[in-house]
Amino acid sequence: MDMFVIRGGTPLAGTVTINGAKNAALPIMAAALASSGPSVLQDVPDLVDVRTLCKLLSELGMNVNRDASGDLRLEVVDDRPHAADYELVRTMRASVCVLGPLLARRGRACISLPGGCNIGDRPIDLHLKGLAALGADIRVERGYVIAEAGRLRGARIYLGGPFGSTVTGTCNIMVAAALARGKTTIESAACEPEVVDLGNYLNNMGARISGLGTPFLEIDGVEELTGTTHRIVPDRIEAATLMIAAAVTNGDVELKNVRSQHLTAVLEKLSEIGVKIANVGENRLRITTSGELRAADCIALPYPGIPTDVQAQLMSLLACTPGISVITDKVFPDRFMHAAELARMGAMIRREGPSAIINGAGQLSGAAVMASDLRASAALVIAGLSAQGDSAIRRIYHLDRGYERLERKLRQLGAHIERVEDRADTFPHSLRLDQPQTAAELTGPHWSHPIANTTSQKRSA
Ligand code: UD1
Repeated sequence: MDMFVIRGGTPLAGTVTINGAKNAALPIMAAALASSGPSVLQDVPDLVDVRTLCKLLSELGMNVNRDASGDLRLEVVDDRPHAADYELVRTMRASVCVLGPLLARRGRACISLPGGCNIGDRPIDLHLKGLAALGADIRVERGYVIAEAGRLRGARIYLGGPFGSTVTGTCNIMVAAALARGKTTIESAACEPEVVDLGNYLNNMGARISGLGTPFLEIDGVEELTGTTHRIVPDRIEAATLMIAAAVTNGDVELKNVRSQHLTAVLEKLSEIGVKIANVGENRLRITTSGELRAADCIALPYPGIPTDVQAQLMSLLACTPGISVITDKVFPDRFMHAAELARMGAMIRREGPSAIINGAGQLSGAAVMASDLRASAALVIAGLSAQGDSAIRRIYHLDRGYERLERKLRQLGAHIERVEDRADTFPHSLRLDQPQTAAELTGPHWSHPIANTTSQKRSA
């Protein structure tokens, strides 16, 4: 297992290019199952999740190849398989995106139920409700969802749930409805740019979907979807992660291939915190800071709000920003595993239901921490980049699911970050308790504030 060893304190500087979005690439790759011609996908990031889905799609009868230019070529060569096994689905929840395409094209899908995960309960009841409304017969047996249907038929479907709409649920229903007989209306559809990207891909293959980017979708079913060539939309979460990394280190970073119109809420919040963001060309942003950053309150909401996938990274930034900040997650209200790890670096964070109250420490101190999920890993990397001294970020296999070699991009920007195998002899000397250290080195931020939190203990100097 790999870990990152980071020496914090270097301001990031330079230019990096943002990849295509994981959350667009995965449902689009899955949707290729519903087409009858070959597709070529450009800017598909080379991630563990993408490789996992390639494996699943191969098992489902697809020819999947990445050519020398990096384009991903997908074509159905056998339309008989219809099952997605637990072993694959448990490693990647987005496998559920094959449900709608399989059902629509092959009339049957058998998909392992994904179960919960480290960011909270993640039911798929809305996916199933939508597919049932389209005429599918659905049952759950031995941990698998089994969905069967003849030709699906259009319906009026409401996709709102207790935490808003569902992103992958909207993707599943949209693909299924694209091949259904008649018209489907989806109300409370997810509006995320990745859903729009999938809709554009489907329309390029002959689907008739209107209202993309709004909560009301109208879909006129067609008989067949052909293949097409499609470029994946840039990853707004990777862009936000690198912006926050630049800000937390007082850096000067230019991002290429970033769509600022997909990041309005994040850009506004970063500006409020004191981060300077300038448009420096088409799809190019420059991130700098000048002087002190300010505490702020953030609420993660469905798009166009601040994404829940940026909540953890913002927490790292605010943990280093003097003052009291409050972060609330309305999409995944239990998504706070990173708070306890940040506390190991001296962050003062108290959890209150779906919120975290952060008493910004000014500067964190390096520590060994454990990544619990994809975006929590990114948050710990950000904290490590800004902290005083060395940090060891363990279990970064979570990070590799969603960032393509993040350490290379960060090194390109001057960060001191190494990927090493997690072994006793690679663990940073400076983090070993048996190493002689001065009292000053052992003194992290002081726990003097009244909100000093419940997840950490006072440390002695
Ligand atoms: C997608 C993203 C993920 C992001 C999330 C929220 C992909 C591959 N993943 O996940 O990175 O964090 O959107 O923006 O695109 N819910 C229900 N019933 C359902 C489905 C969801 O109650 O049937 C709830 C969930 O528990 C959650 C909220 O709705 O509280 C949003 O979940 P959803 O949009 O479905 O997330 P994913 O599509 O799994």
